[in-house]
Amino acid sequence: MVVDNCPFLRNCEHSLLFQGAEACLYILKDPNNVTHNGMFLLKKRLVKSYRHAKLDKKLTQKRITQEGRTLLKCQKLGIKVPIVYLSDLNERVILMEYLDDYQSLRNVLESRSLDNSVLKILSANVANVVAKLHDNSVIHGDLTTSNVLVKELKVENGTPESENMIEKSVTRNFSIVPIDFGLSSSSDTSEDKAVDLYVLERAILTTHANMTSFFDSFLENYVTASKYGSATKAKLDEVRARGRKRDMMG
Ligand SMILES: Nc1ncnc2c1ncn2[C@@H]1O[C@H](COP(=O)(O)OP(=O)(O)OP(=O)(O)O)[C@@H](O)[C@H]1O
Ligand SMILES: [Mg+2]
Repeated sequence: MVVDNCPFLRNCEHSLLFQGAEACLYILKDPNNVTHNGMFLLKKRLVKSYRHAKLDKKLTQKRITQEGRTLLKCQKLGIKVPIVYLSDLNERVILMEYLDDYQSLRNVLESRSLDNSVLKILSANVANVVAKLHDNSVIHGDLTTSNVLVKELKVENGTPESENMIEKSVTRNFSIVPIDFGLSSSSDTSEDKAVDLYVLERAILTTHANMTSFFDSFLENYVTASKYGSATKAKLDEVRARGRKRDMMG
């Protein structure tokens, strides 16, 4: 059991799921079975002692507020995200649904368990969700592969005849859940959308070698899925050029 003076942790059976630079994530037992799996996820943002205390509090509260607000907006739009149960700015926490049957896109890509045809489907599924966020003015702000959760859905396709046949075609499909909306914002500019895509591209290419085709296929699907896909893609070329210039200048 992790020792923490937070009342949510003191009074509830829990274990540490993840400790990052910004936050600790705990799995809490749900004694009243409010959730589908008997567990909550508590995200507690850490105090940054190198920051001035007042500024730290202000920044943290802004991130918690923004994360909760955007998660609710996504839920309203029909984009699957973890359900938010409560947030407490003083305790620096958000209590949300724990998606125990999902893994991060980062893990999926690193495991190299999917062949190219399935990776193409996965990239299209991710593109549809990012396009829906952007078409509804939601900019993620930190669209890395750790901030996208993935679960494979098995859908059986079959015409009435094929029901009785030995072979049924199985379409592979994935449920995609964006998370970690603390840096999200509301914007309609192609610049902001293109920066989201650039962050995703960098995350894919730097942490997952040989994944160029994954991002290419993602982008192709994004262009068709988003109303303003072509304009955002054109802007992405500009953002990339700026990035290259910055890299050259060190
Ligand atoms: N609701 C959830 N269900 C299942 N796993 C989750 C959930 N939320 C987060 N995770 C897991 O915990 C990891 C860290 O979560 P998250 O990205 O929210 O924190 P963080 O990166 O530390 O946040 P921030 O960058 O805002 O400080 C995720 O990459 C994911 O693997
Ligand atoms: Mg994260």
